[in-house]
Amino acid sequence: MANRRLAPASEQPESFAFSPENAEWAKTQIAKYPEGRQASAVISLLWRAQEQNGGWLPRAAIEAVAAELGMPNIRVLEVATFYTMFALEPVGRFWIQVCGTVPCDSCGARGLKEMLQARLGPPGHVSADGTFSWLEVECLGACCNAPMVQINQDYYEDLTPESLGQLMDDLAAGRPVKVGSQTGRVSSEPQGAVNTLTDPTLFDGSRVGAWRKRFEEAGKVETPAAQTGEAASGTQQAAENPKPARPDVGRPIERPASDAPAQRAANGETPVKAEDRADAAERGRSTAKHGSARPGDADVLDSPAKRVAEGEPAAGDQGHQDVPARDAVPQQPEASGASAGEVAAEAEEARIAGALAALPKDASPERKADAVGKRPPGLDAARVGKPDDLTRITGVGPGNSQRLNGLGIYHFDQIAAWSRDEITWVGTYLAFPGRIDRENWVGQAKALSAPAQ
Ligand code: FES
Repeated sequence: MANRRLAPASEQPESFAFSPENAEWAKTQIAKYPEGRQASAVISLLWRAQEQNGGWLPRAAIEAVAAELGMPNIRVLEVATFYTMFALEPVGRFWIQVCGTVPCDSCGARGLKEMLQARLGPPGHVSADGTFSWLEVECLGACCNAPMVQINQDYYEDLTPESLGQLMDDLAAGRPVKVGSQTGRVSSEPQGAVNTLTDPTLFDGSRVGAWRKRFEEAGKVETPAAQTGEAASGTQQAAENPKPARPDVGRPIERPASDAPAQRAANGETPVKAEDRADAAERGRSTAKHGSARPGDADVLDSPAKRVAEGEPAAGDQGHQDVPARDAVPQQPEASGASAGEVAAEAEEARIAGALAALPKDASPERKADAVGKRPPGLDAARVGKPDDLTRITGVGPGNSQRLNGLGIYHFDQIAAWSRDEITWVGTYLAFPGRIDRENWVGQAKALSAPAQ
């Protein structure tokens, strides 16, 4: 790590003042910030002071900037000593900052430092002819092309001790040098050969054009010639401005509890949002009805899930609650792409949504929970007056811990023993269906209640 001390007193100038031109420039920088926020200009002013002083910041310049901005000296000193872009000691005509952070270190930065030490002496030391000085600094953000150095304001990357030595020779002699990678890499492309994303059609627009053409042709085949009006404009819009695929398709994502159908039903809202009805109806056909019904059967279409999806009461006209049995094996949709677990979870979600939708909007949490699951047995009080700290279960905060205590749940082993119906009951009672499973409360409780080995 770089030594961040001010230069010795013998090297410090007596005073520092901005040149008239720089003083004027400083005023414009300070004027960019609202009254009382002039300190925000500290880095720009320090940088300009460093440039004016030949590439390093003496104490007097730091104090002059502090006075200009109405800041305590120590605050400006903190900034100047934190950022290695500010040199605190005199530097050579070419100031070499060598990155010594892990990626550069693993790729050979130590060799660069050894070479500089041998050629120039210790860090901070200016070479006898005043041409070079060097310093080790932390990551300069060019890790992909490690190891690298910054010389004055340019980056030189993919270095070896030899190529850095050659670079220094060229700089000292005034010969032109190449900034960036010294091995010919362009930007941060792979070492050696570029062997991915090499197909030019990815970049010339032809691939996107072909896809769009196919899309438009498919639209023509599927759409009768007489199609007009809104539908035609929809097809046109889809071709020109296709919507992205649903982001959660095929991926296990955590749906916010407040957006789940059962949650919406628990809140007295329509369980399935209008825009989701088509999807829900499709799922209802596949999963909500048990037995031998196939997707598309008419009686399947009369399921509670389907009625819920269409915004109707799940129980139908006669108040009959046609809710599938909890132990019903959901039918696997054909070629849906969903796993058996996802299908079962969706069927369970539809079952709960249907059951909750059949209740009055102001039903109590207990009544809602009773409609979908089974209340777990509770205790009158914690055993020996010592409840477990349920907040050790990830997902159980102090509030939920209290509510669980209110149900007579005080100990990890009680939660560890919850059945599927009891999990559903508690999840509905606490108004966050599915979360107990997602956070694996039961598994956590089992681990916490297991006797220490
Ligand atoms: S580690 Fe050296 S530039 Fe990032």
